[in-house]
Amino acid sequence: MKKIINVTINNKPCELAVESNQTLADLLRYDFGLTGTKKGCDTGDCGACTVILDGDTVNSCLVLAVQADGSMVETIEGLSNEDGLHPLQKAFVEKGAIQCGFCSPGMIMSAKNLLDKNDNPSDWEIKEGISGNLCRCTGYQKIFEAISSQCSKPNSDINPNINQGGPHGKI
Ligand code: FES
Ligand code: FES
Repeated sequence: MKKIINVTINNKPCELAVESNQTLADLLRYDFGLTGTKKGCDTGDCGACTVILDGDTVNSCLVLAVQADGSMVETIEGLSNEDGLHPLQKAFVEKGAIQCGFCSPGMIMSAKNLLDKNDNPSDWEIKEGISGNLCRCTGYQKIFEAISSQCSKPNSDINPNINQGGPHGKI
């Protein structure tokens, strides 16, 4: 059974009918063509589908579209504008933090949410901020450097042992 929802996606308000079992990830990808939001596992494990919902990151594969009724959703497509890429996106490119790129949209949305709330996170807080996002390619060091470069006081002494610890062990 369909339900009418009102949702604002990347600052554009819309009203549409959604199936009661449709996920937010599928809504974004299939109804709006916002395929920057990836689906890696569909079970809340990989973070590839991360978007910002009312100021917090969520795995959009675990959120029903009807739960987004009345909410603001921000996706990777909302970061760039007519002036070009968002500084975080540029940093990921310039620091070599992207290889296959599948994790990158979700990773960048987690990093953006972290920096929106705290423009000078510690190394530990950066690790924690992306701890729900899995990357099978980069080893995380370049990702960490890209995010760190966007802090208000970038860490000039990047810890070479980043893979040796984090809030959840190796990241
Ligand atoms: S696709 Fe949502 S967490 Fe993996
Ligand atoms: S760059 Fe390939 S999964 Fe992260």
